[in-house]
Amino acid sequence: MPHYGRRDFIRTTSLGLAAGIGPLTLAADAQPTEPSGKAEDFLAANVVEIAPPALPATFKPTEDNILGPYHRRGAPYRGKITPPMEPGEVLVIRGRVWGFDTKQPLAGATLDVWQANAEGRYDNDDPRNPPKKGVFHNRARLTTDESGYYEYETIKPGRYKIGPDKWRPAHIHYMVTAPGYKTLVTQLYFEGDPENARDQFIKPSLIIPLAPVKLRQGQFQLGTFDIVLARMS
Ligand SMILES: [Fe+2]
Repeated sequence: MPHYGRRDFIRTTSLGLAAGIGPLTLAADAQPTEPSGKAEDFLAANVVEIAPPALPATFKPTEDNILGPYHRRGAPYRGKITPPMEPGEVLVIRGRVWGFDTKQPLAGATLDVWQANAEGRYDNDDPRNPPKKGVFHNRARLTTDESGYYEYETIKPGRYKIGPDKWRPAHIHYMVTAPGYKTLVTQLYFEGDPENARDQFIKPSLIIPLAPVKLRQGQFQLGTFDIVLARMS
């Protein structure tokens, strides 16, 4: 068994165990990663001016929606909500987060996203079989880039029953935060879901269309969900 000294213990507890992962230590002989070329040459050859994004068609603060019982704190930051090979119809959802007061995109806003699997089940909906601590299925947090943009891959969530003869339409939950703005808890819904007309929580402004994108190796559905945050009063 390798010797495990006090210093290792301190390193492990301060960096590793707190985050639920193994010790993070840099090898003693580690060197800075070598560049593969001059960054300025690459930029000059490859970067083009990108037009500023257009304001969403309807520019008013995004409507809120119920939190529901299945949110979990602390989902990992990643650009894919689902684990690898999750069954279901592949979706890509993208959009921008905007400040209502400034009409500018908000860089560094945080989106906490969670959803059911294709069969309408959340990873924490069975009290007899709770998820392991630190294991998050069909949940992620994301940060908007310098143009307020976010994008993730997931699968289309299934509907689920909430009472005799009562189903929730397919939806994805969002909690969006940005410094100086009111936290927005909302959900996005999909055009064409037969339960949209019967659901008691849905708001029409939160329904988005999906359009198929065909690739040689298959196809996915693409949707845009822009979010406008109200200034904290
Ligand atoms: Fe839900």
